[in-house]
Parts: sequence; structure tokens; C-alpha cells
Amino acid sequence: MQEIGLVGLGTMGAALALNIAEKGFRVAVQNRTTSVIGEFVAGAGPLAERITPCPTLGDLAAALSPPRAVILMVPAGEPVDAMIAALRAVLGPEDLIIDAGNANFRDTRRRAAEAEAAGLPFLGIGVSGGEEGARHGPSIMGGGAKAGWDRVAPVLEAISAKFEGTPCATWMGPDGAGHFVKTVHNGIEYADMEMIAEVYGLMRDGLGMAAGEIGAVFARWNEGPLSSYLVEIAATVAETVDAATGRPLLDVILDRAGQKGTGRWTAIEAQHLAAPVTAIEAAVAARNLSARLEERRAGEAIFGAAPERIAGDAGLIPALEQALLAGKIASYAQGFGLLVAASGEYGWAVPLPEVAKVWRAGCIIRSAMLDDMARALSEHPGTNLMFAPSFAERMKASHGALRRVVSVAALSGNPAPALGAALAYFDAMRTGRGTANMIQGQRDFFGLHSFERVDESGSHHGPWARG
Ligand code: 6PG
Repeated sequence: MQEIGLVGLGTMGAALALNIAEKGFRVAVQNRTTSVIGEFVAGAGPLAERITPCPTLGDLAAALSPPRAVILMVPAGEPVDAMIAALRAVLGPEDLIIDAGNANFRDTRRRAAEAEAAGLPFLGIGVSGGEEGARHGPSIMGGGAKAGWDRVAPVLEAISAKFEGTPCATWMGPDGAGHFVKTVHNGIEYADMEMIAEVYGLMRDGLGMAAGEIGAVFARWNEGPLSSYLVEIAATVAETVDAATGRPLLDVILDRAGQKGTGRWTAIEAQHLAAPVTAIEAAVAARNLSARLEERRAGEAIFGAAPERIAGDAGLIPALEQALLAGKIASYAQGFGLLVAASGEYGWAVPLPEVAKVWRAGCIIRSAMLDDMARALSEHPGTNLMFAPSFAERMKASHGALRRVVSVAALSGNPAPALGAALAYFDAMRTGRGTANMIQGQRDFFGLHSFERVDESGSHHGPWARG
């Protein structure tokens, strides 16, 4: 029987430990607040017989036979470094530490380099799916030395979600590759959620629909090409009634979104890599903007509420579905493009079709479309997802609806920044002759930065008519 250690019995750690035990592995658990360990084992029911409670890290080391493998589920950042240092003090040189938290991939790269320099095995793995996923099958994006991954792959594959029997647990590349893939997952998660929120807004404010009606629309969409976890839960969220007031719960939730930061990292890293992820950036910005509640209220007092009823709204609901589809494809194309850029920069060779495959089940962005994306990315390597024939067909069929929805949103004052960014990205990516020639002209004018000509090679300057 394979055995593994797990440190950190917070919500995710506890769920993961139970999942490991349920799949038949022995798991030795440790937590900084030791009272939590006893409570956890007491609540584990019959699974407790496979769980070894360890009051100290030394006990954890003693409970496992070398070469050991220990999963860290502690808060990202400094606690991970502190725990790695404390664990290294009690572990042996062959023992593998696996950081399974939502680490910034830059930290993972540093930790992997430090571990490698010391000859110590280390993995950084992205785990998605929330508490439910951790308990019953998350999507796992592995990073670090392949040999380390191979050692624990049987456990990670066993506990992962399965898509038609295939485990959603894959090694994505060395050092920070797994955590980077998880970061991009979260960026896409932000874009998916923001676009859903935008079409919700158009239905609520533009069409004057009640939350329950909107929920029914999402539920219907979930039966079609938009079938996904996030559309499914949007339906449930919209249909839920608040027990205290009898009103739709959605209507009493404050419109101020929280964020822990991983979506923001996607935007930051994309800027470092000059990778256009405009829909994701718009989604991150929309969350930041939502937090400015007082400022928004002050704006409303001056200008009047922006969202107006949409006149002549016949056929808007099917257009919203198509717009969401087009926006989703564009934002995934951006996310995969960012992975290509990062993979080149950091020398990872992240396998894009495998990324799409591990996202098919277990994770927050799981959707029917990801299986098609995996196929398209494997049949057309190196191609923008929007250009792979099966997705090009979908874009051809749906970009008109996206255009209509973004136009209607703009004219009625219903903000739709992520859908708008997705449309502008699509339009820019199908424009062979863009407008950056004007930028180049200005750059040369004020700074002699030079430009290329369409009819001659080399680097050129004015002269300009004046100045
Ligand atoms: C997942 C999620 C998860 C993330 C939450 C909250 O894949 O399980 O991405 O890792 O922490 O979704 O993220 P925000 O607080 O940034 O919205």
C-alpha cells in the first residue's frame, strides 16, 4: 500500500486527505494547530483507519517510510517557505515535498531551483476544483522534475477527477509549469465568470428579467454548447431564494467581487510576456472596479444609472448565448496563447492538448467544449485556437451575435468589458493591415525610433512634413 504525508488540514487539505484515504492509500497528516488533527480524524469515519495523526513534523517523518512524499496544503507565500524549511529539517535527502497550494509560479521556480541546487526533490502542483473537487476528484496540473512526478503519479491520478475514465492529472513541465497552468486556469475562470455576469446584467437591466427567469435561461444553455460547471452554477445561483427575505438571493448579494489574486497574476504575467489576454485583463479589471462601490454610487448620483432597457430586444437571448460562446472561445485562445508564450520563455514545452484535457473534469472551468479544444489543439499545433477549423467555424457562426450584443450593451449603457475585449481581440486578429503604422510614424517623429516599410526591408526614418 502506497503512503503519503499531508501537512495543512484547512478546508482543501482536509478534503484532499480524505480523498487520498478513500482511494486506498495510507495518509499521515499534520497540522500546525494540533487540536485540528484530532477533530479531523474523529470526523473521518471509517477512513480514519488509513489516516495516521501526527502531532509534530517529526512524527510525520517517523510515520512514513523513506523515500517519503509529503503534500503541503498551507497558505501560499511565506508559510510555504517556512514549512519547507521545517520539513527539510526532519526529512531525508530522497524525500519529496509537493506544494499543492495556489502558489505564484515565480515562487515555485525559486523553490524548485533551491531544491535542485541542494539535490532535494520538489514539485509544485496546481489543484483546482474547490473543496468538492479536492474531496472527490480535483484537476491536477503538475510541475517540477519529471522523476518526482512519476513517483507520486499513481496517487495523484487515483485521487484526480476522471474524464471518461482518463485521470485529470498531468505533468505540465519543469519547475513552475504546473502552477503557471493553474494561474492561466484562474485567469480563464475570471473571464468565464465575468462574461456570464455581463450577460446576466443584460438580461437583468437590459431586458428587465427576474433572477429566476435568468436562472432558467442559464439552465437551458447548460444543455447546449455552453454546457459547463460555471453556467450550471450560475443557473443555481440565479434560481436560489433568500430564506430571510423571500427574494432571489442574487438580488440581495452586494455587487462587490472578491479575489485572492491568481486571476490578477495571469494579467501581470501576460504583460511581462507581451501576450494579449485582453478578455482576462478586462475580467480582472472588472473585479477591481466592482470593489469601488462608493465611487460607483457617486457616479450614479451625477449621471443617472447607466443601464437602460434595450429597445427592440427580439432575439436577444439567443444572441447572448452565441455571444458568450464567441467570447469564451476568444478568451481560451488568449489563455492558450499565454501558455505558449510562457512555455517558450521558461523552456517548459507545456503540452497544450494535455492542458485542455486535464481541464475537462474536476476543475472550475470544466466544460463540454474543452474536449473539442483538446482535439483542435492536438490536430493543429501552433495555431491560435480561434483558427483551428472546428473553432473557426464556431467563430464564423457566432461573432455576429457577439458584435450585436457588445453594440447593444454600449448603446444601452450596460457595461460588458470582457465581451467587448473578446470582440476587439477577434477583430484585431483577423485584420491583416492594422493601424500600428500610425504608432510607428509617431514614434519615429518624436523619438527617431524608426519604422519598417511595407515595400522595402530594413529600418527607416521620415523625413516628416513638419517638425
Ligand atoms: C479552483 C479555484 C480556486 C480559487 C477560487 C477563488 O480552481 O479551485 O480557482 O483555486 O482560489 O476560485 O479565487 P478568487 O478568490 O481569486 O476568486
